[in-house]
Amino acid sequence: MAILVLGGAGYIGSHTVDRLVDRGVDVVVVDSLVTGHRAAVNSKAKFYQGDIADQPFMRDVFKENPAIDAVIHFAAFSLVAESMKKPLKYFDNNTSGMIKLLEVMNEVGVKKIVFSSTAATYGIPEQVPIKESDPQQPINPYGESKLMMEKIMRWSDQAYGIKFIALRYFNVAGAKPDGSIGEDHNPETHLLPIVLQVAAGTREKLQIFGDDYDTPDGTNVRDYVHPFDLADAHILAVDYLRQGHDSTAFNLGSSTGFSNMEILKAAREVTGKPIPAELAPRRPGDPDTLIAASDKARKVLGWKPQFDDIHKIIETAWKWHATHPNGYQDR
Ligand code: UFG
Repeated sequence: MAILVLGGAGYIGSHTVDRLVDRGVDVVVVDSLVTGHRAAVNSKAKFYQGDIADQPFMRDVFKENPAIDAVIHFAAFSLVAESMKKPLKYFDNNTSGMIKLLEVMNEVGVKKIVFSSTAATYGIPEQVPIKESDPQQPINPYGESKLMMEKIMRWSDQAYGIKFIALRYFNVAGAKPDGSIGEDHNPETHLLPIVLQVAAGTREKLQIFGDDYDTPDGTNVRDYVHPFDLADAHILAVDYLRQGHDSTAFNLGSSTGFSNMEILKAAREVTGKPIPAELAPRRPGDPDTLIAASDKARKVLGWKPQFDDIHKIIETAWKWHATHPNGYQDR
């Protein structure tokens, strides 16, 4: 049996491929390299460059690799701010890409998919921690595109029997502990990599977007999870589908919240650098607090995240950033 990883050259995809290869799993990767990095893909995985919406290309990938019985899907655009300006780019690539993919999966008879969903499908939570059964009311096209993908999978399960697991990630941070793969976005918009770019001297200072939120120190509170722990959850989710279980969704977070100021303080402690920061206006669309209730994944999948300490998560990210200040260009 082999697993097809779509978007396996991206940040979370590449860590999952690495983890799968480590466990001796046969891995086939498809990535368009629009945002991913070829150098991030473990050399033991079979790599194809192409777009998942290109059906003739995808048919060939399945035909050349008949051992594929399950798909893990990371191949989506994921910048909230960009999605506000270019919503059609998100509905085209993410949502319509999913339709094209499911059509081919149905044709070739591959009926298991584990999907990277997001906490952004919940919008502004009515309560924290957020449960899987809470209302999904996205407040940006990115979250909407992923919620639509979840719904499309639900109906495809009913009609064609394609079973799915939607994994709704909270804030992903950290890198492979040996520092060989990590986070490299262009442009970078996420808090921790920006903090560490300032620490590494490739960015002048951090701007903290708002300190008047309804949180203990006024800055947003987020729930951070390491990509290796996410990778393990994907592997467990594939096993769960292989055991014949029904489609469902899981939140993936550490169930602990850290404010933006707490992340800055922890990063100063880990790096020993001053990391200059200034207050800036709020960024549109930021909910006060996002914390996952992730007991369902722990109970049902047996998920046991290893990185439960924010200092440890930051240490892994720092090892990557300090040795690759320009990301994969430095490899
Ligand atoms: N932030 C700053 N300064 C920066 C960058 C970010 O203060 O330069 C703040 C943001 O305003 C926010 C927090 O840091 O309060 C975290 O922001 P990120 O951009 O790192 O992450 P988000 O919480 O916006 O989004 C991430 C993923 C989404 C996912 C969401 C769910 O990118 O895909 O987590 O928790 F939906």
